[in-house]
Amino acid sequence: MGVARRVTAPGRVNLIGDHTDYNQGVALPVAIDLGTTVEFTETGGSHVTFFSTLYPQGIALPVDIALDPSVLSALQPPWSRLVGAMIALTHTRTGGVGRIETTIPVGAGLSSSAAFMVALAGALGVEGTARSIARLCQQAENFSGVPVGIMDPLACSGGRAGHGVLIDFSDLSLGYVPIPDEAELVVIHSGVHRTLRFTEYAARVAECEAAAVTVGPLGLADESDVDGLRDPLLRRRARHVVTECRRVHQVAAALGAGDLGTAGERLVEGHRSLAEDFEVSTPEVDALVAEVCALDGVHGARLTGAGFGGCVVVLAQPGAVDPADYPDGAWVVTPSDGTATDPDGTGTLDVSGAPAGTPEAVAAGD
Ligand code: GLA
Repeated sequence: MGVARRVTAPGRVNLIGDHTDYNQGVALPVAIDLGTTVEFTETGGSHVTFFSTLYPQGIALPVDIALDPSVLSALQPPWSRLVGAMIALTHTRTGGVGRIETTIPVGAGLSSSAAFMVALAGALGVEGTARSIARLCQQAENFSGVPVGIMDPLACSGGRAGHGVLIDFSDLSLGYVPIPDEAELVVIHSGVHRTLRFTEYAARVAECEAAAVTVGPLGLADESDVDGLRDPLLRRRARHVVTECRRVHQVAAALGAGDLGTAGERLVEGHRSLAEDFEVSTPEVDALVAEVCALDGVHGARLTGAGFGGCVVVLAQPGAVDPADYPDGAWVVTPSDGTATDPDGTGTLDVSGAPAGTPEAVAAGD
């Protein structure tokens, strides 16, 4: 039996700043205490095998799989494309057996795929800074067919307990914003499950690129640039990104000052912008945001992540939201450490050698 590694990566909830990462903007995600664990034991041979409880029959891929989107896109089930891309990108040359388990709801906008990628990279022996790990994981997702930005793996690897991660995507610098003790973060599932591949995520990326041809990267633009866009649809998309980046800074400042009321108001404004200007909400998510905002002790709530369903994040007083009231799932989440031991410096991924456990596992793929 060869080397065995076991790595757990957290999911993330994005407090504010959605659809800003692929526009060189800013965001304030939080790594959370729901996570994905990948164990991998090198056994030799020419294949890697992974098991999950969702796919108990497992998947087997050749170690010399090509880094070729046409090869990867033919793999089934779809999450095996992520594994194939990661094996190819990391030049894994030794066969082995892997097991995956997760407490992150899949397809909910809580970064189940990025957590899977970060944990998988570590289990395959990759070491690096939060940034280098995140770049690798983003590439793996891109090769497997979804043009995601870098926010999710950067939050999963660069998170810090008790803090939100203020990411500037123009230079990938990280700052840390303390989440006040009197703030509770609750994540509520809308009941609408989705897979990004089947949403208009790629269309939004393309629309932002089209607007950027005229005004430059939207995350660096301002409102007068937006007014100069002639196409009304592109103008709305760009307005979301520009105003969202402003809200990120406002929420970071409000949290730093302990002003939860102002932070909550910006969250609600952010939801409206995602729903009206960026058009990534759904009637179920809008209704959930309105319902939860009417509760005593709730400062604000918004859609979190890519949208098209998934989860709402709520900023509230402790105890104001009872997760038991939400049949599709709700979690009080704790801001947690990411996998990188020194997220903003030269530190490496925290990889612990461990014997492989039982083949209890769940697939990722958000
Ligand atoms: C998904 C993507 C991220 C980001 C968000 C929206 O989670 O993986 O890169 O674009 O949507 O903010």
